[in-house]
Amino acid sequence: MTSGHQTEPCPWWLGYVLASPLRKLFQDPSSLVAPYVEEGMVVLEPGCGMGFFTLELARRVGKTGKVVALDLQSKMLDGLHRRAGRAGLLDRIDIRKTEEHRLGIADLVERVDFGVAFYVVHELANPAGFFGEIHDSLRPEGVLLVVEPREHGGGDAGLEDSIDLALQAGLVVVDRPTIKRNQVVLLGKRPAAS
Ligand SMILES: C[S@@+](CC[C@H](N)C(=O)[O-])C[C@H]1O[C@@H](n2cnc3c(N)ncnc32)[C@H](O)[C@@H]1O
Repeated sequence: MTSGHQTEPCPWWLGYVLASPLRKLFQDPSSLVAPYVEEGMVVLEPGCGMGFFTLELARRVGKTGKVVALDLQSKMLDGLHRRAGRAGLLDRIDIRKTEEHRLGIADLVERVDFGVAFYVVHELANPAGFFGEIHDSLRPEGVLLVVEPREHGGGDAGLEDSIDLALQAGLVVVDRPTIKRNQVVLLGKRPAAS
């Protein structure tokens, strides 16, 4: 367990707050994911909540791409399903319920171009297992963007603990992007030894 680790999922009703259009006033999902997502990509979004980022990801991958949206809580996924249906994006989103200790993405081995875990890692019951499953799902050039709020995880130290677990799972730090008032890391796959 990492310092500042919560291991309780956020209450389902908070999903409505997190998916509110008001959040766009200080966090624009479009500009946050734009550097990473292109048409036709396979995108993985663990801890998608009610889909604040999911709908934008689905727009960007287009008709030829796919977003695999995962959450532990059915009520979050129900909210995402409703919102994606209203936006006409359901056919691009594969909505899946996870188990507490396991994402269950064995079918995605080496298929994911981009993953985003936004405000999720501090809630995970099994962060080491999480990074192992992410590692296996990424294509050789695939990356995972991890964003954590500063107030969770004891400042930067909390994220550093998570990064240690990621490195143990075979991931490497590709970049340290900045998002105001957040801790951020971009992880990729360690290149195979030649
Ligand atoms: C704070 S919310 C963030 C939601 C979304 N990423 C956003 O930024 O709006 C964290 C989400 O992670 C989910 N979560 C927690 N533990 C999880 C797990 N082991 N597997 C999948 N989702 C999980 C929670 O149910 C919740 O929807």
